[in-house]
Amino acid sequence: MEKKPKGHVIVLTYPAQGHINPLLQFAKCLVSKGLKATFATTHYTAKFIRADGINVMPISDGYDNGGFKFAPSVEAYLDSFKTLGSRTLTELILNLNHESNSSSPPVNCIVYDSLLPWALDVAKNLGIYSVVLLTNSVSVCSLYWHINSGVLNLPFETEKFPLSLPGLPLLSHDEIPSFLACPTHHSAYLAAILEQFLRLGDNDWVFANSFEDLEIELVKAMEEAWPVQMVGPLLPSAYLDEEHQIGTDKDYGGNLRKPNDDKCLNWLEKQPQKSVIFVSFGSMAEIDEKQIEEVAWGLKMISSNQNFLWILKESEQKKLPIQFLDSIGEKGLILTWCNQLQVLANRAVSCFVTHCGWNSTLEALSLGVPMVAMPQWSDQPMNAKFMEDVWKVGVRVKKDENGIVRREEIGRCIREVMIGGKCEGIRSNASKWRENGKRAVCFGGSSYHNIDKFVAKLMK
Ligand code: UDX
Repeated sequence: MEKKPKGHVIVLTYPAQGHINPLLQFAKCLVSKGLKATFATTHYTAKFIRADGINVMPISDGYDNGGFKFAPSVEAYLDSFKTLGSRTLTELILNLNHESNSSSPPVNCIVYDSLLPWALDVAKNLGIYSVVLLTNSVSVCSLYWHINSGVLNLPFETEKFPLSLPGLPLLSHDEIPSFLACPTHHSAYLAAILEQFLRLGDNDWVFANSFEDLEIELVKAMEEAWPVQMVGPLLPSAYLDEEHQIGTDKDYGGNLRKPNDDKCLNWLEKQPQKSVIFVSFGSMAEIDEKQIEEVAWGLKMISSNQNFLWILKESEQKKLPIQFLDSIGEKGLILTWCNQLQVLANRAVSCFVTHCGWNSTLEALSLGVPMVAMPQWSDQPMNAKFMEDVWKVGVRVKKDENGIVRREEIGRCIREVMIGGKCEGIRSNASKWRENGKRAVCFGGSSYHNIDKFVAKLMK
């Protein structure tokens, strides 16, 4: 007989790929433990989400027919989402409660994305539990926390660098999140984040997509001060759990773009073991034409027994030089989107040239793939710093005096990770983090334990 769920959680995501993936994965994890989960996202993104056992329901951000790209500014978008999102999320929950029955109990909790701080008020007004899920590393989050607690003041003065903070390595200006390095440039995102951290303690739980071992220094330093618990890495279970203790799930289930799986896997199939350089700068970054050109020629120059797979959005592919496209032949494959986890887990892939988005970083760490970091914006510079200096699983590129990473530098970093003096150490650290990530989410692990405690409370 089918078990009836004992609690009902609304999981609310910001409608971007790097947010949908971890929130959806968390929703699936809660369902696997016996809760009912309804995934709330905008009208425009709801149609892309297909995940077993998850009920997907749309709410409004004010741009129901096309989403964020039709908003006049980030600020206008976040404002509109706050006003309409609060109203339509409340209506959704009231409707679900009205129609509740033994297989769909009334909603007793909202788990929401840290970019949507207004969801806390929705939960409070309805008298249900509120849980925020932080989608950045907790080390990055600790900087926002220190701003609200007055330890750091914006804008940062030059003489304050390098920053010395509890549980973090020394940080230079170009190693902190761009929202803090250039606060006026990203004021709307920064305001939403700071609002979140101002009220962090008002939530019933604060979860982060990370795991204790990975940020142990920070965990130890902040233990007393803040309420964050780790529940990651939030990856489909099949990638973390060969013994199927926690599941056989192979896909996040919420791709906003269509991956070209056949072409990608057929091409990878033909490549020798550990020979392919995989390149991707995530779903959001817009890269300067000159920079794209340098990456292109850098990849063309890599050793003759290595080929590359490069994921580049349509708008970015237009920036590729014609001579490069005419010359690549069998050396490389360029696609607009792929199933990134499947690629990172493929036996042919040896190195990941990445923008260091937090999901990409966690995915590469969890699958033991060494990295070359080319951070673009947001939290990525700090993730790249940790990747090189703390976890020691790769190297970061250096920019020239015009702010461009030259083709020679890209080639140098790839060689360093593949065959250089540090290569052995990097590979062995990558394997170590892969095992640590698995341990955290499997039976008895720290993240497993945190999720179990939470589920037990909701089921009471
Ligand atoms: C951004 C930020 O950079 C990130 O750090 C923040 O926490 C969320 O917002 P994004 O630029 O999209 O995210 O990068 P990332 O966090 O790496 O997320 C991208 C996701 O898309 C990953 O889960 C990755 O597996 C997936 N992806 C990417 C694909 O499935 N296919 C692709 O071809 C490229």
